[in-house]
Amino acid sequence: MPRPAASPRRAPKRRQPGHLAFVFRPLRLRWYDGEVAAIEAKDIYKAFGQASVLEGVDLSVDAGQRLGLIGPAAAGKTVLLKLLAGLDRPDRGSVAVGDKDLASLSEAEIMPIRRRIGMAFQSYALFDFMTVGENVAFPLARAGELDDDTIRARASERLRQVGLAGSEDKMPSELSGGMKKRVGIARATVTEPEILIYDEPTAGLDPVTSAKIYELLAGIQAETGGAVIAVSSDVEPLIEFSDTVAMLYDGRVAYHGAADEIYDAEQALVRQFVRGDLEGPL
Ligand SMILES: Nc1ncnc2c1ncn2[C@@H]1O[C@H](COP(=O)(O)OP(=O)(O)O)[C@@H](O)[C@H]1O
Ligand SMILES: [Mg+2]
Repeated sequence: MPRPAASPRRAPKRRQPGHLAFVFRPLRLRWYDGEVAAIEAKDIYKAFGQASVLEGVDLSVDAGQRLGLIGPAAAGKTVLLKLLAGLDRPDRGSVAVGDKDLASLSEAEIMPIRRRIGMAFQSYALFDFMTVGENVAFPLARAGELDDDTIRARASERLRQVGLAGSEDKMPSELSGGMKKRVGIARATVTEPEILIYDEPTAGLDPVTSAKIYELLAGIQAETGGAVIAVSSDVEPLIEFSDTVAMLYDGRVAYHGAADEIYDAEQALVRQFVRGDLEGPL
């Protein structure tokens, strides 16, 4: 079965690996017969009670591609990410991961697919009763494939990569917002999932820390070769990071195109949103 096509299709950008790239191990694909999955949402609808949030969303990202998702507050970005990650189900429409349509699968059948997807949540979602080390180790421990020493070593290595070496025994409550973000990223990526979903990975961070986070995300992606979907209200650095950018507006994808072309998008509302203009249809 052919992989779902991304629209629009574009050759991946050639990027110089950041200085963090050397710390990552080489490409290793375990889950998918040597091929990493693309992810595609087709005609997605989602409402909460009377409040309709998504009304016919089409969106896809190819393996090895970085998709930036933007849109006004409460546009439904987080809701869409959770649907893509298989954490919630749409009212209508389908989400395909590789050649698997999540809608046709039971909860038990979705579990192994969910493990191929790493998600770092906007609200951290760290377990506050676990140490930082245990939080990062959790996805590996749950997978049950490695012994405890290996799991601890992998978690510590990931913590070092996100700049938090030696914080294994801290509790999440002892950390700043930026540190919690980085723990969330470490936990989301520790199993080297082939699809990485980041919800507001740089919210509340200063521009330098934010730039370091994007460099980290790029390094991790270089390692896994997977697809990345990132949501951010820091529109400029997200566009810089992304291959394609989609804008969610009024329940639908108002724009999906090459990242470097979005500032000249045809739709005035898209141009206004990414440029932060006061004048315009928004
Ligand atoms: N579980 C839920 N129950 C009810 N309403 C929800 C739920 N999750 C999200 N919403 C509503 O859906 C809309 C979109 O939310 P969200 O996806 O978080 O927006 P954002 O684009 O800022 O991430 C908001 O109005 C929010 O209140
Ligand atoms: Mg959100």
